[in-house]
Amino acid sequence: MNPVQNLLMEIEGRIQNATAKGIDADCVSRSFCPKLSIQEDPVCGFAHCQIADYWSKELNEVKGCLGCNACRYGKPCVQKDAFNGFVPKIKDADCIVFASPLYFWTVSSRIKAFIERFYCIAEEDSNPPLGRYEKYPVKDCALLMTSADDFFWTFEQAVSYYQFTMVNYIGFQDRGMVLAGGCGDTNGKPQIDKTAHLQVAYEFGKNIYSE
Ligand SMILES: Cc1cc2nc3c(=O)[nH]c(=O)nc-3n(C[C@H](O)[C@H](O)[C@H](O)COP(=O)(O)O)c2cc1C
Repeated sequence: MNPVQNLLMEIEGRIQNATAKGIDADCVSRSFCPKLSIQEDPVCGFAHCQIADYWSKELNEVKGCLGCNACRYGKPCVQKDAFNGFVPKIKDADCIVFASPLYFWTVSSRIKAFIERFYCIAEEDSNPPLGRYEKYPVKDCALLMTSADDFFWTFEQAVSYYQFTMVNYIGFQDRGMVLAGGCGDTNGKPQIDKTAHLQVAYEFGKNIYSE
């Protein structure tokens, strides 16, 4: 792509971004700023802030809660990202399976952001028990995780968070967990195919409602 700088000057705004879906990355982009006397900025971090909103919607990303309280109770979230599309699916689902790699000893920020948005599905509770402030639809839930390490403590914080938040607080009923340690880290190729974890996860899914 070789944009005509004179024509770019006529477009509103100081930076013009060209962006497309990537192959090795979520997206690729180029940034042109002729109004700032920079024909093309090869490392424009600001441009990434400009395209982030677009790609978070395109890639179905879910942002963390803003704490504005506008969604309570039954109203939609003010953030127009992928979570709004998940709300009817969550309400319809029998079982919600949380799947995440272990990042710094707990669930990834993506899963955390998804859970933070659960205020959108909360209902008012006129008589909440001690320590709970709203009520949630009754669902089953399960946890699937991978990690590089495989010690007895490896998943301790993630499991504690899941049990405390999803089961004790929100009140979902735990149908089980698959905690797949020893899956390799980001330095090398994925190792999960050298373990029994995929088969275990398959059997787990197959049998989750079998008894
Ligand atoms: C930012 C980051 C943090 C991580 N933190 C941990 C960790 O605390 N403990 C651990 O055992 N593995 C950790 N890992 C390794 C991932 O859990 C591991 O790469 C992943 O579970 C392997 O699954 P995958 O092949 O599907 O990516 C981390 C990886 C990344 C990228």
